[in-house]
Amino acid sequence: MCGIIGASLSNRVCRELVIGEIVFNGLLRLEYRGYDSAGVAVIGDQLLVRKGKGKLRELDAKLGFKGLHGCVGIGHTRWATHGVPDDVNAHPHVDCKGVFAVVHNGVLENFVELKRMLQNKGHVFVSDTDTEVIPHLVEEYYRETGDVFESFKQAVKALKGTYAILLITPLEPFKIFFAKKDSPLIIGLGVGFNLLASDIPAVLPHTRKVVALRDNWAGFITPSEAYVEDLATGKPVELAEYVRIVEWSLSEAEKSGYPHFMLKEIHEQPRAVMETLHGALHDQLIPEAVELLANAEKVYVTGAGTSFHAAEHFSITGTRLAGKPIISFISSEYDTYLPAAGEGDVLIVVSQSGETMDSLKALRAFKRKGVRVISVSNVIDSAIPRESHVTLYTRAGPEIGVAATKTFTTQTTLLTYLAVRLGEATGQLDAGEREGILRSISSAGELVKKALEDTGERAKKLASAISRSSSAYYLSRGVGVPVAKEGALKIKEIAYIHAESYPAGESKHGPIALVEKSFPVVFVIPNDTYLETLLLGNIEEMKARGAFTVGVGPEGSRAVELLNDYIPVPRTHWALTPLTHTIPLQLLAYYAAVEKGFDPDKPRNLAKTVTVE
Ligand code: F6R
Repeated sequence: MCGIIGASLSNRVCRELVIGEIVFNGLLRLEYRGYDSAGVAVIGDQLLVRKGKGKLRELDAKLGFKGLHGCVGIGHTRWATHGVPDDVNAHPHVDCKGVFAVVHNGVLENFVELKRMLQNKGHVFVSDTDTEVIPHLVEEYYRETGDVFESFKQAVKALKGTYAILLITPLEPFKIFFAKKDSPLIIGLGVGFNLLASDIPAVLPHTRKVVALRDNWAGFITPSEAYVEDLATGKPVELAEYVRIVEWSLSEAEKSGYPHFMLKEIHEQPRAVMETLHGALHDQLIPEAVELLANAEKVYVTGAGTSFHAAEHFSITGTRLAGKPIISFISSEYDTYLPAAGEGDVLIVVSQSGETMDSLKALRAFKRKGVRVISVSNVIDSAIPRESHVTLYTRAGPEIGVAATKTFTTQTTLLTYLAVRLGEATGQLDAGEREGILRSISSAGELVKKALEDTGERAKKLASAISRSSSAYYLSRGVGVPVAKEGALKIKEIAYIHAESYPAGESKHGPIALVEKSFPVVFVIPNDTYLETLLLGNIEEMKARGAFTVGVGPEGSRAVELLNDYIPVPRTHWALTPLTHTIPLQLLAYYAAVEKGFDPDKPRNLAKTVTVE
């Protein structure tokens, strides 16, 4: 949903570092947020803007972002909302006189009215974007006030919608003005410089000291100062209490020799799940979350995309292990569930970024009805954790590849542990099962490592067969269903193969009509002998119609042996099925994308953090 970055450097730092390089390298780390066009503006002797349609490296080769000099710069990488991706619609946008340059992430709902009002005053617009109204508004107010910050604040107050905005102007050559509402924005605090960015990886090479800005805050940074005002109260914000030190390492935000972030992040999963588990074992908030859940009248769990699959997994494990029905729903569908929710209920919101607008809206709506909210997120101090009563953090480290991988397996690790603790609290979990699952979960890192070692080559071979098809089914039962859905989503989003996933028992109620010779059907055979037995019949019915049946499942199981081809995974407790079985499905999608010549890190039409509805 667009990435923005700004850097303000002291004269000393400015002599050592090139502003264009800082902004460009920051944008590269934000490219997962959008990559249809990009631009940079710097203040050197004057305001200089370079922008265009295309990917960052191509644009840099053409426009020379990295060579731009100055002490202040802003940049933008775009995922188009208003206006097609082209050179003119690319950010930064400027006013009539080219004095104010603006980058923006978000959507302005009232830009049509504002544009009309400004046009009536003689402003000439060149793009189709909503953003262009911002520099024109500032220009208009500046004419009246003669004060840049004042004009910027007035302009921001006129906006309706979502925004993270950065503005630079030669009138205040060391400052970057900013404002935020419902789109993420952080300050990176340094010595001799300060930065602003949509996300932490963009500032990590320079600093770990960050402040996650809150809604309705506006201010400016200089090389030595960060000034913030709460627009609702008009009062300055004391920033010291909001400063956090980020623990992520720089190498986690780099490819480190892997051809793609996605492959690197797949391989980081053994460490990521173990760190998440250790974090959970020592998290003082787990007992609080368990108490809320155990005493809740109704428990809901929600998320979008991959995070919804983790939510569905919790609904299954929570119900099976704790005997407590857990209602899962896709966050954008929250309206349907809202009428029955009220005080005494608990909602779990799963969101790796903590910024997904659909999930944030569900959270707010349920909270207004008195529902207590627990969130599961990977990003410290992001919007969803900030608005929750209790937050449990996964420790996946930064995830740059657009397709979620390690954030999913860490979410399911944390939520499975939570389900076990809930089972203890409700008294439904018998001692034998509790011990079995805890034993398996404590070796989660080893299990994932083994799944990685055992499945790479087989996944590559299967990918080559499947990548020739335009369609596939991904089927399972019970605890395997969210995993099958996740596998289908992965191959859809990065290899552009149409993949449909549903509980295998449904085939005979319609979908089997599509199956003909060589139609690929991917079965997820969970670590559950009862479910495995049920799947035998589903595999047979597909084979009888000539389907190419493949799958992932524990070696030696009757079901995998029925398949035309399969990828073996370690046998473990049924609740850990997402940990072992998702790995080969991620690799299958990855290799299918590579085989077809697509960049798995940057799937078309997608952005990693979806901050619009
Ligand atoms: C798919 C994927 C998306 C996200 C979804 C929610 O690979 O990454 O489906 O899972 O957009 O994002 P978060 O978890 O940030 O709320």
